[in-house]
Amino acid sequence: MADGLAAGGVGTAHARPCTVDPMGLLADLVADGEVVVLSGAGLSTESGIPDYRGVNGRLRRSQPMTYQTFIGSAAARRRYWARSHLGWRHMAEARPNAGHHAVAELQRRGLVAGIITQNVDGLHQAAGARDVIELHGSLSRVRCLGCGERTPREVLDRRLREANPGWTARAGAVNPDGDVELSDEEIAGFRVVDCASCGGVLKPDVVFFGENVPRDRVAACLELAERAGLLLVLGSSLAVMSGYRLVRHAADHGIPIAIINQGPTRGDAHALVTIDARLGSALPRLLARLDAAW
Ligand SMILES: NC(=O)c1ccc[n+]([C@@H]2O[C@H](COP(=O)([O-])OP(=O)(O)OC[C@H]3O[C@@H](n4cnc5c(N)ncnc54)[C@H](O)[C@@H]3O)[C@@H](O)[C@H]2O)c1
Ligand SMILES: [Zn+2]
Repeated sequence: MADGLAAGGVGTAHARPCTVDPMGLLADLVADGEVVVLSGAGLSTESGIPDYRGVNGRLRRSQPMTYQTFIGSAAARRRYWARSHLGWRHMAEARPNAGHHAVAELQRRGLVAGIITQNVDGLHQAAGARDVIELHGSLSRVRCLGCGERTPREVLDRRLREANPGWTARAGAVNPDGDVELSDEEIAGFRVVDCASCGGVLKPDVVFFGENVPRDRVAACLELAERAGLLLVLGSSLAVMSGYRLVRHAADHGIPIAIINQGPTRGDAHALVTIDARLGSALPRLLARLDAAW
């Protein structure tokens, strides 16, 4: 098939796939509007940010930081911030790709009721999308665990550079969390800074593994999912429960679900349409199909 459309399926949770063109059916569903997008790391791999579970996923090579480890030890926090100090630059330099731009275009056309992302990279917004719910927070903000103040990451970046004038570690491979591999000696030489207002411990404003998504954020997402005309999953294995739960919730409410992802996902059995394709080409193709229908 053209444009990396390796395989697709049309079915329901209980019916066998049939021969209807999946992209055509998806375009029809999207054209009806009220689409709620649920995106994952796969939407950003074409912007140079690796995923965890895709073909080049990094989960096996480097375990992501857990909330318990971060909270439990100053040494773990030093390790996190040293690695993240270098990795964040890479994340901050990433630019949205054709997939992010296509989502923003669908929103401009009035077809989107909401965008929920599991990504922490800000690339939907960089492509012009508005009102994005960041399910797992954003690396662009920092939160104080003492006073709760949120500050821009740029401010911390400046403070960390000032606190580490002679620190010469160089970024190696970048991980999905926006951190990099560093030696123990490089980490030992890094100085962490605390909250400028209260001296409390600083944490990136992201939901770590082992941490719960704030309740009001979950509630807002569940409400969007149950009111959607279509739940459109883009580039997520749905292995993480907070994303999968939204798919289950939509399915329980009889909302049609479509998934574009390279490789299988945990939500496939709930989907009316699955398209196994690269998002950077599949989403522009979807826009072209919508244009052709006019
Ligand atoms: N960019 C980011 O902000 C980022 C990156 C990695 C991980 N994370 C965090 O880790 C968690 C990972 O879960 P997840 O489900 O989002 O990611 P995941 O790594 O579990 O799954 C990504 C899926 O996308 C597919 N994929 C990769 N590139 C693709 C492409 N170009 N087109 C289509 N499909 C593609 C992969 O095959 C895989 O199935 C998230 O909750 C997120 O918070 C964030
Ligand atoms: Zn504070």
